[in-house]
Amino acid sequence: MNGRHLTAPAVAAGMVVVLSALSAFGIFPALVAVGAALLPALVREAVRRDWWDPVTVPDPRYASVPAGAPTVHPRLDADVSIAAGVAALPLTSLRTRPGDRLSVTAAVVQDVVVGAVVSAASAAGHGRQILSVGVAPVHRGHGLAAAMLEAHVASFRPADEPMSATVTVAERDWVDPQEQSVRVSIARRLFQRAGFTVRPADGSVRAIDPLALAAVIGQG
Ligand SMILES: CC(C)(COP(=O)(O)OP(=O)(O)OC[C@H]1O[C@@H](n2cnc3c(N)ncnc32)[C@H](O)[C@@H]1OP(=O)(O)O)[C@@H](O)C(=O)NCCC(=O)NCCS
Repeated sequence: MNGRHLTAPAVAAGMVVVLSALSAFGIFPALVAVGAALLPALVREAVRRDWWDPVTVPDPRYASVPAGAPTVHPRLDADVSIAAGVAALPLTSLRTRPGDRLSVTAAVVQDVVVGAVVSAASAAGHGRQILSVGVAPVHRGHGLAAAMLEAHVASFRPADEPMSATVTVAERDWVDPQEQSVRVSIARRLFQRAGFTVRPADGSVRAIDPLALAAVIGQG
């Protein structure tokens, strides 16, 4: 070993590479649904769309959370560091292209991001996909995720560009994970409150994760 550790995001990314390779060879198409259910959306899209390379990117370095009340920034463009528990990947290491239209709404204390909602133009060509909603453990339970999601949606026009999210068992925090039924009920509340229609996810995903949810706004 050369001193590199296998982090949880790197393991998840390794899974996506293997699953993509298998599906490219037409082997086990059901594995695509496995990837959709068991990989965080942000990790899956980051590897698939070449925003992040788990092999070459150094292990994540997370900032400690400073004292103070967070301020929500609908579109993050400042030079910041990220606290642990905010997203499955260190957002500052993503190399997106303008066409990806990645957008981050962030809750910031001083220059540290303590919460984030991340979305990007869907790879399928229409609409926007919410890839991650996360808040550092110390700031949870005070309405921050709700405020960020509301600000994120308000910064787009869902009527022109529908937004969607799929929340599976994979959307969990690596540092202080909540029980899945709790996460599902928080996700349902969050998305409904922001105006999304929430329903069970597609059958192929639910075959693997029966509690998986899909949330949409601006469609039909
Ligand atoms: C999910 C997460 C983003 C919520 O962040 P948060 O800032 O604590 O959420 P909020 O305080 O805005 O609460 C949103 C709703 O969930 C409810 N809620 C929050 N924490 C809860 C808990 N532990 N148990 C039950 N309900 C809870 C709130 O009451 C609120 O519902 P309301 O509108 O009816 O009052 C945060 O817990 C997190 O980062 N978890 C790790 C990532 C994750 O699990 N993501 C999956 C869900 S998208």
